[in-house]
Amino acid sequence: MTYPLTTPRLSITPLTEQDTATFVAYRQDADVARWQGWDPTYNDDDAAELINSQPATDLPESGRWLQLAIHDVETGKLFGDVAIHTLDDHDDTYEIGITLAPANQHLGIATEAVKRVLDHLFTAANAHRVIANCDTRNDAVAKLLIGVGMRRESSQIDVEFFKDEWITLDGYAILTNEYSA
Ligand SMILES: CC(C)(COP(=O)(O)OP(=O)(O)OC[C@H]1O[C@@H](n2cnc3c(N)ncnc32)[C@H](O)[C@@H]1OP(=O)(O)O)[C@@H](O)C(=O)NCCC(=O)NCCS
Repeated sequence: MTYPLTTPRLSITPLTEQDTATFVAYRQDADVARWQGWDPTYNDDDAAELINSQPATDLPESGRWLQLAIHDVETGKLFGDVAIHTLDDHDDTYEIGITLAPANQHLGIATEAVKRVLDHLFTAANAHRVIANCDTRNDAVAKLLIGVGMRRESSQIDVEFFKDEWITLDGYAILTNEYSA
């Protein structure tokens, strides 16, 4: 079994119903939901649907996401989540996404979690390429992705009408040879 992935501060393992209360609480935060595909009305039923439909495999099948909980390795407290998406039309390519509860941001936890997931994808899963997409106005995630070694390689202007406005999505990527270097 691949999980938990551990770091000095973190234990990363598939999200379960024990995470529901904290997970729902930060998904209801307007500043967190602003950049994501849900809105602050997110509730326990939405979380149950997501958790019950989680892949049972260590890595999601093509086209699916696996949501991983980021816990404090000492206390088990849920800090946030990091998700892995196996792209269905690109071999050995994965997309990642991350969300932390506001109280756990700016502490380097996101950086520590993403680095561990990249290590997992490039070493255990033999990934060729890992990507992430984000709103061009989301400075926090841009800084995080550059900080872990990803390149901004695209910017799709007004690519999507999202939450009542046209948004520009920036694409970030890292290849296995870049990761090794
Ligand atoms: C994106 C997110 C996970 C980043 O978490 P974080 O806790 O700031 O990450 P870290 O503490 O590891 O910090 C990474 C870097 O980003 C910087 N940063 C954090 N917030 C920032 C902001 N609002 N503006 C500019 N830089 C910011 C940090 O200072 C740090 O830089 P440093 O290494 O030079 O000190 C967090 O902001 C979040 O959960 N946001 C809401 C959900 C979201 O937008 N997810 C991404 C969707 S694609």
